[in-house]
Amino acid sequence: MAAVVESDQNAPAEEAPIQSFLVTFIIRRYDPEVDAEPRWVDYDVEMYPTERVLDALHKIKWEQDGSLSFRRSCAHGVCGSDAMRINGRNRLACKTLIKDLDISKPIYVEAIKGLPLEKDLIVDMEPFMDAYKAVKPFLIAHSHPEHGKERIQSAEERARFDDTTKCILCAACTSSCPVFWTDGQYFGPAAIVNAHRFIFDSRDDAADVRLDILNDKEGVWRCRTTFNCTEACPRGIQVTRAIAEVKQAVLRGGR
Ligand code: SF4
Ligand code: FES
Repeated sequence: MAAVVESDQNAPAEEAPIQSFLVTFIIRRYDPEVDAEPRWVDYDVEMYPTERVLDALHKIKWEQDGSLSFRRSCAHGVCGSDAMRINGRNRLACKTLIKDLDISKPIYVEAIKGLPLEKDLIVDMEPFMDAYKAVKPFLIAHSHPEHGKERIQSAEERARFDDTTKCILCAACTSSCPVFWTDGQYFGPAAIVNAHRFIFDSRDDAADVRLDILNDKEGVWRCRTTFNCTEACPRGIQVTRAIAEVKQAVLRGGR
């Protein structure tokens, strides 16, 4: 007599294995000790849709070519160290999922533009940090809070600069700005975002100092409102709006 196989209606359905794909990455490599010019190098990497471009870079470095150089630290969109151009757009490698890219074509990865290239995907961040430091990105208060008390601020006052507190200094905005590419003298969107964070803080007493700094010929007036910065920001900061608010504050002569 033939055996009857009964299916268990209550048994959990077996999950289909997640399919992997062979993805081609074309990376702009540059070793200053060997190369006169940067060169594009292809790598085929087995990837899962849920992995990120940062995972691909790790696989290339760990399994194919240990000399590939790039920065990363947190791997979760917090430290801002892995901004790079992916298919021509500034993004964080750790926040760019393979499933969101068109893997039927190669994925191009290169260093961000406008800052001196050091090696592979690493640029010299000093000019970027110099502009950031120049706008005095720290609280300057001329009075002390009452002993043992905090500086009081209303929810509305705090909301005034909430957006610009989210900056992680990744440089995706500044290095996507065509004005910054032209000569690198412009303070750049990130420095203005971080000035905005303090200019509109009701506890701060140095808005006029920062507005004066940004009224310089390399300051806010060089912005051409191209919105590249807002599109590039991985934190969703309304960068162009922040720059416009700083421009208005310069014209008003205060926050
Ligand atoms: S404003 Fe956005 S894109 Fe610019 S440095 Fe800050 S986090 Fe990065
Ligand atoms: S590695 Fe820290 S933001 Fe991507």
